[in-house]
Amino acid sequence: MSDSAPAREAWGSRIGLILAMAGNAVGLGNFLRFPKQAVENGGGTFMIPYFIAFLLVGIPLMWIEWGVGRHGGLRGHGSVPGMFQSLWKNPIAKYLGVLGLFMPMVVLIYYCYIESWTLAWTWASLRGATQGLDQAGMQAFFKSYVDLDNGTVHGFWTPFAFFFITILINFYVVSKGLTKGIERLAKIGMPILFIFAAILVVRVLTLGASEVIIDGVATQSSPIDGLNFMYTPNWSLLASPKVWLAATGQIFFTLSVGMGSLQAYASYLTKKDDIALSGIATAATNETAEVVLGGSLAIPAIVAFFGVAGATAIAKGGSFDLGFIAMPLVFNQLPGGAMMSTIAGVMWFGLLFLAGITSSVAMATPALSFVEENFGWTRKKTAIGLGVIALLIGILHLVYYTQGFLEEWDYWAGTFGLVVLALIETVLFVWVFGPDNMWREIHEGASIRIPRFFKFVMTFVTPVFLLVMMIWWTVQEAVPTLLMANVPEADHGVRWASRGVMLAILLIQLWLIKAAWRRRVLDGKEVT
Ligand code: TRP
Ligand code: TRP
Repeated sequence: MSDSAPAREAWGSRIGLILAMAGNAVGLGNFLRFPKQAVENGGGTFMIPYFIAFLLVGIPLMWIEWGVGRHGGLRGHGSVPGMFQSLWKNPIAKYLGVLGLFMPMVVLIYYCYIESWTLAWTWASLRGATQGLDQAGMQAFFKSYVDLDNGTVHGFWTPFAFFFITILINFYVVSKGLTKGIERLAKIGMPILFIFAAILVVRVLTLGASEVIIDGVATQSSPIDGLNFMYTPNWSLLASPKVWLAATGQIFFTLSVGMGSLQAYASYLTKKDDIALSGIATAATNETAEVVLGGSLAIPAIVAFFGVAGATAIAKGGSFDLGFIAMPLVFNQLPGGAMMSTIAGVMWFGLLFLAGITSSVAMATPALSFVEENFGWTRKKTAIGLGVIALLIGILHLVYYTQGFLEEWDYWAGTFGLVVLALIETVLFVWVFGPDNMWREIHEGASIRIPRFFKFVMTFVTPVFLLVMMIWWTVQEAVPTLLMANVPEADHGVRWASRGVMLAILLIQLWLIKAAWRRRVLDGKEVT
């Protein structure tokens, strides 16, 4: 019988579940990606499509993914291939679900690499290594770290060491299991993250105006100018597809939807657990962390010391200049000297590390559950196996970062793929499974009733919105990205290699799904 499931682990407490889900969603995206995207896309103008996308796709997908995850979990499936199979009895359903294994795995690997920087910078702040550096010095500090050929500041092995430690901590946590590993990490890490962020926000917003020199003219600039800059709409940009794509992309990335990891967490829920209220609570926590905390840190701090023009230039530079170059420069100028610089640096990079690790353990979960459930490995053995794979593949990111190896993965798996998976799962859950079944599933054990308006949205608006976005995305970005329109000729080889590795991961996972279902049928667990 296909619907009988063996006993699975369960979440220890509701607060633990919410913190783990919020930990999944709150990540580097909230503190690094959001300010950069907002500033690059017209500040206040960006916030309009951002909130529309939150309402019409973000919240609905949250509920859809919790629903899909619990529905599959009750039938013994901790990852998307099996979840899709239990929604749609067609044999190809499980193969479509490969995206829910592929994307978390791929994102996990490069995300852990970036996470390892936050650990390295926490350590550097603690040692005072970035103190006294000027802008050029700070840039060199960063460049030397990410470019292994440029050992001017860091030893060759330093980035490897931090990456190794990051992978080790991640897989140690997941090897401990759901309640003793992931839930405990969230219960300790999330409150610390929020406290650090709140302290930094207060420090940043109470900074007075300082004198900045722009084009040789001295002017006054304050953190409030940063807030104004971030929230003043530039209406002419609202009609630009680029802004809508960026806003929708940010909603996807920051909520962790369209990935397969929320579903994996939700698969550990029982019939009696609430989805409706917990789903919206998670989304609200993430948005608070993003807009209130993430929005009040990097930009106002940097504007206070570099002016609006300086901040824009930095945001438009590399993806990580804001967090890893400009912020430590700001800390060096805070009143309170070396001591203050150390404290602020440790808090900032420490909070980034906590935000990162509570997300990366979530990305590890789908592949882990998949192997455990289908091939009968213990959690510990699976964690070691996956950890070694992530470590080995991750080394490619360390070596080829400057040639865009990571960017390629971030685009296909971290941006474009999310919309594809979200569209497929919405169609399966809402249309194949049926709108009434979907609505009933989400309300099973619910503490609140969701306004009926959302049933309409989830049935009609969300799928259409996703379809339009996907087409727009394909035309506007995916095709030029595929053709490497903006990539220097010299890097094409690395880019193709990067795609080749992704493709290999995808094919291996498809093959594993095939093997898994053969075993399931042999074991009498599955009828198809
Ligand atoms: N939401 C995370 C952030 O803001 C990143 C993320 C994207 C993620 N997809 C995910 C985290 C899947 C966990 C699982 O940084
Ligand atoms: N391409 C992404 C961007 O510029 C890179 C990025 C920024 C990122 N912040 C991140 C990737 C945080 C992972 C995590 O928006």
